[in-house]
Amino acid sequence: MKHEAQVIADDAYDEICGTMRDHAGIELERTRRFALGARVQRRVRELGLGDATQYCAYLRMGPQRVHELDELLRLASIGETSFGRYPLQLEFLERAVLPRVIEANRRERRLRLWSAGCATGQEAYDLAMIVHRALGVRIDDWDVRILATDINAGALARAEAGWYSRDELRDLHPDDHDRFFSIDGAGSRVRETLGNMVAFRAHNLRDAMAARRLGRFDVICCRNVLCHFGARAREDAVGVVRDRLEDEGVLLVGHRDPVDHGERLFEPIGGAPTRAWTPVR
Ligand SMILES: C[S@@+](CC[C@H](N)C(=O)[O-])C[C@H]1O[C@@H](n2cnc3c(N)ncnc32)[C@H](O)[C@@H]1O
Repeated sequence: MKHEAQVIADDAYDEICGTMRDHAGIELERTRRFALGARVQRRVRELGLGDATQYCAYLRMGPQRVHELDELLRLASIGETSFGRYPLQLEFLERAVLPRVIEANRRERRLRLWSAGCATGQEAYDLAMIVHRALGVRIDDWDVRILATDINAGALARAEAGWYSRDELRDLHPDDHDRFFSIDGAGSRVRETLGNMVAFRAHNLRDAMAARRLGRFDVICCRNVLCHFGARAREDAVGVVRDRLEDEGVLLVGHRDPVDHGERLFEPIGGAPTRAWTPVR
């Protein structure tokens, strides 16, 4: 018997890839074809459609398109995230980057951070905890805003709810848990002290015009997003990020994120494990 993923027609799979490329800049890996094919097949059945070709038509137009594009992002399972991801990088942010930015901004007492591609919010709350620790008792005197954006509305809704299961909280230091979270059922929810620092908003990194309305940032975390993009989308996104970063600001990317084409815009700082970049001057 044929594996169910193999019954997805080549042209349907190619159209799904094209849709992801146009909508989000995402280049689906050929190697994930079978896994994605199986999930699309399941979705086809859930929707009561005949096959993946009909699913492509369903994706193409109609009021359900926006929701279904979100579903497709979920099916592509590119939203993996966790608390405390890349501890060395976060330590570098806390010990080296933030003290410098705080010193540079001491007159205005204002800090702006952007988690671009925040998925279900763990990265944004990590940033909030780190800023809390870096500012210490000064936190109430500072105007701190952490903007967290993603293209996936479903992920953002979870992020905004700020509730995480015990398993999702496993990498959180117990002190941070007790200080910034309160137990709620089978998991914990972020306390207001943290939640109030973060604003979640839908934003497509492909939209350079909309990015201009987000303001400028001292720190931008764009981790594990660029690695999903094709070369063109990546180049555009690196340009957008540079445009939104203060000249003295710092960009943090993930370990697999290429900043190709970005070398003329950014230079690395802090050594390889930090994956930190600052604008070329
Ligand atoms: C692997 S997660 C990264 C989450 C977090 N930054 C981290 O490193 O743990 C990638 C996220 O990028 C988002 N994403 C993909 N394409 C995007 C785009 N064009 N604009 C904004 N977000 C996008 C996905 O929805 C997903 O939530």
